[in-house]
Amino acid sequence: MSERHDEPWTVLRLLDWTTEFFKRKGSESPRLDAEVLLAHARDCARIDLYTAFADEPGEEQRIAFREMVRRRGEGTPVAQLVGYREFYSMRFRVNDATLIPRPETEHLVIEALDCAKQFSADRPLKIADIGTGSGAIAISVVKNCSSAEMTAVDVSEAALQIAIWNAKQLEVDDRINFVESDLLSAVEQPDSFDIICSNPPYVSESEYTELSPTVRDFEPRGALVSGPDGTEIIARLFEETPDRLSAGGRLIIELSPMIADACQVLAQENSAFGDLRFIKDLDGHRRILSVQRK
Ligand SMILES: C[S@@+](CC[C@H](N)C(=O)[O-])C[C@H]1O[C@@H](n2cnc3c(N)ncnc32)[C@H](O)[C@@H]1O
Repeated sequence: MSERHDEPWTVLRLLDWTTEFFKRKGSESPRLDAEVLLAHARDCARIDLYTAFADEPGEEQRIAFREMVRRRGEGTPVAQLVGYREFYSMRFRVNDATLIPRPETEHLVIEALDCAKQFSADRPLKIADIGTGSGAIAISVVKNCSSAEMTAVDVSEAALQIAIWNAKQLEVDDRINFVESDLLSAVEQPDSFDIICSNPPYVSESEYTELSPTVRDFEPRGALVSGPDGTEIIARLFEETPDRLSAGGRLIIELSPMIADACQVLAQENSAFGDLRFIKDLDGHRRILSVQRK
């Protein structure tokens, strides 16, 4: 961002220059990235930039912006630079211990809320979120289902700290029991759940090497990689959750379209489950698998 003395660095000029820079660096959303970072540097909403195109940000804001632009150019995700990501119309704090919540995971929340409606509203609904990360799924479900009593687990203590922070910030910490656990092994109560949701790691070791550096070098490997095939943790979910689901309860799992066939076979081979359905993402790919405990 070299200074040219004839033209001032207005908001519009900063955005245009940075958009071109991010394009050259291969960002998939260069304009959006530039706007989010400049809004953060100016401590304003992104929409407020549109009425401030002619403003000239002061030195302090420009230094803060320039540093974030430099790091974004090196691959750091925007969410980690600003410290949060919007999910289900809420703001979730993230850091390098948590996966950055993805828009496709909102389909899982919608399926969980739809399933929740099928249970009686007269009693608490026992729901688990396995691999809660930033708490995005657990918190979104609790916020939108008044009868939900949530257990949110993760093997990563550092991720759980962020989830707890988000739950406090969003004022649902009294309705979520956070447990450090390998799947549900350390969860003693309740004995059985009505709904178990999970967005588990489902990337295979070979796919991991092909991921964009913005994901591979900045998001936790343990949140992404499942094992050689990508199906290992999902296979464990099918094996281990039948004992923890009430009859008629549902297991709802996010997966990658590439392993949808393999996961369908795993579900169909397991006699504890029936009523299998897939929910597709906005690109028309099978993204969420939902099965019922017989
Ligand atoms: C793909 S991330 C999902 C995070 C969050 N639920 C979301 O959708 O944004 C998977 C999460 O599962 C956790 N995890 C990995 N293996 C686990 C296991 N065996 N038991 C519990 N959590 C696990 C990771 O630490 C990570 O936070």
